[in-house]
Amino acid sequence: MTKIKIGQVGLGRLGKVHAENIVNHVKGAELFAVASVVEQELAYAKDELGVKNCYTSYSEMIENDELDAVVIVSPSGFHAVQISQALDKGLHVFSEKPIGLELDNIKQVVEKINSHSDKVFQLGFMRRFDDSYQFAKDVVQNGELGKITAMRCYGIDPSAGLDSFIQFAKNSASGGIFLDMSIHDIDLVRWFTGSEFKTVYSLGNNIAAPELTECEELETGACLAELDDGTIAYLLAGRNAQHGYHVETEIIGTEGMIRIGNAPEKNLVTLYDKNGVVRPTSGHFPERFKLAFINEINAFIESINNNVPSSITGIDGLKSTEVAIAMQESYEKKTIIKL
Ligand code: NAI
Repeated sequence: MTKIKIGQVGLGRLGKVHAENIVNHVKGAELFAVASVVEQELAYAKDELGVKNCYTSYSEMIENDELDAVVIVSPSGFHAVQISQALDKGLHVFSEKPIGLELDNIKQVVEKINSHSDKVFQLGFMRRFDDSYQFAKDVVQNGELGKITAMRCYGIDPSAGLDSFIQFAKNSASGGIFLDMSIHDIDLVRWFTGSEFKTVYSLGNNIAAPELTECEELETGACLAELDDGTIAYLLAGRNAQHGYHVETEIIGTEGMIRIGNAPEKNLVTLYDKNGVVRPTSGHFPERFKLAFINEINAFIESINNNVPSSITGIDGLKSTEVAIAMQESYEKKTIIKL
């Protein structure tokens, strides 16, 4: 079978993960080209991953007529325009979350995605491809929890990654904690409930990392929300988990409840030593979602080969962004926002 030729833009914190996955774990694809503004990253792609076509400009990369698809892992502010440019070139598109930072641009790009229905578009909500989340989805879909009444979502980055985040935030706008982090939980709430957010009320602080105030970021952001079907959702995002990378989701239903990652285990090991009974934790997102990142790109390639739409659409990108922007507005105005 001929391999899908991918051009990837961005080789930073997550870009390297995707690039290595495509080279080592995605049989149906070839990392044919890369684009980055950092020379060392291009040297790494050429020398360590054997990528033949290296560009300092995304626009130049997508001029390469041999490409079939792009994988966009650039800073969030570039996503909407890069998706649009790729579709204009007739390429399939996988883009990291969020789909964009501004609603007007996102609406335009979603229209474009919808009008290019022969091209696969997939957004990087990789948690949907994680084994545990898929297991929980089956439990919910089979009705084992009854009707969902409430969800609680924690997404807290490790304190060990705080310096690297500050660098990331200084280099380019992340969109703020709700657009950068809560967006994964917003997507999960929409995915599990099949319902849309109706109202949001958010709070935030920088008690744990006052230095984030300088780059107009929050260390902790929390939101209480109501969905159209009455479900209550509590979403907490943070950047200061001392114990590691803490992603936890709780779904409470009329017939039972489920928790995913209530202790963010690294593996099945329990260590008994002078510190007591210790469960090692996952250290960062590439570790916790290692397989999910591989699965999502394999699913993208499968959609291209089978000529079927991906399960994560432009509408998912738009809806989740609308909620995240409302959460940010609620925090700034200290008021409940209706969607
Ligand atoms: P980063 O700052 O580490 O890397 C950004 C990369 O984009 C660098 O390789 C840089 O050279 C390149 N770049 C910047 N401007 C460019 C331009 N004009 N043209 C071409 N390349 C350009 O960022 P990081 O952490 O890798 O994040 C990238 C994206 O991935 C963000 O949108 C972020 O939201 C998303 N992300 C998603 C995660 C997930 O859980 N799904 C986790 C981490 C990041």
